[in-house]
Amino acid sequence: MTAGAEAECVDLLVVGAAEVLTCGGTDAGPARGPAQADVGAVRDGAVAIHGGQIVEVGARARLERAYGRHARRIVDARGGVVLPGFVDAHTHLVFAGDRAAEWEARMAGVPYLELLARGGGIRSTVRATRAASLETLLLHARRWLSRAVEHGTTTLEAKSGYGLERATELRLLRVIEALRTEVPIELVSTFLGAHVVPDEHRERRDGYLELLEELHVEIARTGLAEYVDVFCEQEAFTVDEAERLLRHAAGLGFGLKLHAEQFTASGAAALGARLGAVSIDHLEHASEASCRALGAAARPPVAVLLPGVAFHLGEERHAPGRALVDAGVPVAIATDFNPGSSFTPSIPACIALGARTLGLSVAECIVAATRNAAHAVGRGADRGSLVRGRRADVLVCDVPDHRWLGYSFGWNPVRTVIAGGRVVRDRASAGDTRPAPG
Ligand code: NIG
Ligand code: FE
Repeated sequence: MTAGAEAECVDLLVVGAAEVLTCGGTDAGPARGPAQADVGAVRDGAVAIHGGQIVEVGARARLERAYGRHARRIVDARGGVVLPGFVDAHTHLVFAGDRAAEWEARMAGVPYLELLARGGGIRSTVRATRAASLETLLLHARRWLSRAVEHGTTTLEAKSGYGLERATELRLLRVIEALRTEVPIELVSTFLGAHVVPDEHRERRDGYLELLEELHVEIARTGLAEYVDVFCEQEAFTVDEAERLLRHAAGLGFGLKLHAEQFTASGAAALGARLGAVSIDHLEHASEASCRALGAAARPPVAVLLPGVAFHLGEERHAPGRALVDAGVPVAIATDFNPGSSFTPSIPACIALGARTLGLSVAECIVAATRNAAHAVGRGADRGSLVRGRRADVLVCDVPDHRWLGYSFGWNPVRTVIAGGRVVRDRASAGDTRPAPG
């Protein structure tokens, strides 16, 4: 089909948007520096979709002329904002139990790493998860995944990491695999066996590293995960251990991710860059000097920032979002959905938090949760922007302009979710999105 051709048949035409945000940019890579703020807004725009892909984005009048009479379905955005589906590039989707009591202790002043050192934190979720069947885990993950989709997530990365033993880690990856066949969105799976060293290996850490290497081999053979991640932190894994595990995983063909410098400036971010990780995540304690060093690389990894964590844990220190963007590091925003450090499946909530705590504009946060987040899971060529030929993952939000996605918070602005060209969620509009005349 030729862009702009007269009266062509399309599956779906989205019209009536105050703004369509293409988040497209001018080159194929992630947005860096000033490009991070370029949402590619088309005023009074429309989107034509066919065969699961974007056919054209442009002025409403022109697209209505070209496709209006032959569109199988028309979605009226009613003065809202249309943008690419969100890519949640960092979640711990599959687990059992909850940590409400620990969260209350944290709010009363007990540090996160102290809860972990006392045998709580990740370790308490591991105990609950080991005891849960595949069916229980599936039911629970399905429920949270559905909430994520309601909030506009159309691609979601999900990590294992609450098993820390062969059988349970594989069970978690199988839950992700099973969900993949039932949901309309795409799941990207990551093996995070290196979340913490489990109690039974505490006296012999090396034995656990060896087990993880064996699991890398098994998971590479079965194709149960695409990425390998390591939590590099006090109480978890050292920089040297992370390097050993990531090099081993890279040798087997895995893409690499790294939980880096969440509580300690350890040098893990530089390690991730040196090993060619697709993303380095967290970075709350990364120094401005290390941001500049990351930005100097020809192709730095995507920095996946998780503003829900500082909010959820009541931490005062936030990731240096402004310094990263100014240094030329592509920044993504994700939820880090998990029961301990960020219990939200909502990307809109994280955009609102990011715009308040990371030193980024709303436009930069939107590009972070779409185009750059797609690159953070190796899907940048295929989604994350509304560009001809990309997968048609499209949202309609009940807000009058894109700044409202950060400005207004605490409710779900996503009305319609289109994934792979199909409308998968469509709730009644709350009405006219224009502000009341003042
Ligand atoms: O990304 N930092 C390590 N992992 C998670 C927390 C997991 C948990 O507390 O259960 C995170 O914040
Ligand atoms: Fe995490």
